[in-house]
Amino acid sequence: MLVLGVESSCDETGVALYDSVRGLLAHALHSQIVMHNEYGGVVPELASRDHIRRVLPLTRQVLSESGCTLADLDGVAYTAGPGLTGALLVGAGMARALAFALDIPAVGVHHLEGHMLSPLISDTPPEFPFVALLVSGGHTQLMLVSGVGRYILLGETLDDAAGEAFDKTAQLLGLGYPGGPALSKLAATGDAARFSLPRPMLNSGDFDFSFSGLKTAVLTLVRKAGLAQAADIAAAFQAAAVEVLVSKSLAACRHSGAERLVVAGGVGANTLLRERLTREAAAHGVTVFYPRLEFCTDNGAMIAFAGAQRLASLPNTAAAQPDLAFAVRPRWDLASLEAV
Ligand code: KG4
Ligand code: ZN
Repeated sequence: MLVLGVESSCDETGVALYDSVRGLLAHALHSQIVMHNEYGGVVPELASRDHIRRVLPLTRQVLSESGCTLADLDGVAYTAGPGLTGALLVGAGMARALAFALDIPAVGVHHLEGHMLSPLISDTPPEFPFVALLVSGGHTQLMLVSGVGRYILLGETLDDAAGEAFDKTAQLLGLGYPGGPALSKLAATGDAARFSLPRPMLNSGDFDFSFSGLKTAVLTLVRKAGLAQAADIAAAFQAAAVEVLVSKSLAACRHSGAERLVVAGGVGANTLLRERLTREAAAHGVTVFYPRLEFCTDNGAMIAFAGAQRLASLPNTAAAQPDLAFAVRPRWDLASLEAV
């Protein structure tokens, strides 16, 4: 089954072709980071307009790179939520219209399910069950995953998401948007032991997180120490955030008896998180699986892959037959998905 995947939930237009037998055939991405950088964050209306400009050229690009034509497609998958309404509507509208024209099924994919299953786009995918640490710009969750659509929420952030904490801290340090990559680059040149920052909820005994206090502690520290110490502050922040993420992820594995941990979402690209997790997990008999680095942040491949799992499982493709009526879900609970 050949599936075209379209991601347009936020500030990246991603398109990919995934074949259930041959694997990932092609993927293409346009990031709007430069455009939004000027405003210090994503401007939803500009995001939607840019998705409109990019989605068809990117689709032509993946078709031509893979040597496929529209007639080869068996289905179309698109991000139906969560995300920015206008941005989601661009991908959803394009995908639904294409599926209708080709008389093939279309399926709306949950963006976080895409992230969570992205480590499965691999020659050596993790087996179920596993614990998933989802760390993106909008979400921080620990899930127990026993199959596609079989998700039990173990814990989540009570306030800011991990990526949001990286972004806001980077902003306090004058690093621009999105701050995660810039902050971790600066942190690599700093001394993490110079300043001590709190590890919120480290010993709370559950799998929930809180990052807003950490951000406030950084603000206080910046006021006291000044921006000349930015590298040391960045390193201290990163060490605190990573320690909480590592500790809670391993506690969740212990609690659920899982021997595999999957890390997904933009913060999963963080080098210190990867190093610490891999080392400490090994000591606990847990193997960690990451998506390819380019699939940590938003991309079309994860949507094509998750869509292929869902389309393949439909008992009768009539259930997903093209229909010009569609809706997007800017807010959508991952644990509410149905199993395939
Ligand atoms: O998954 P993603 O691309 O978008 C959402 O679905 O939210 O995640 C983006 C987030 C941003 O907050 C960004 O700062 C963060 O991931 N990020 C990082 C790194 N690369 C991206 N955070 C820390 N270290 C990184 N290397
Ligand atoms: Zn994402």
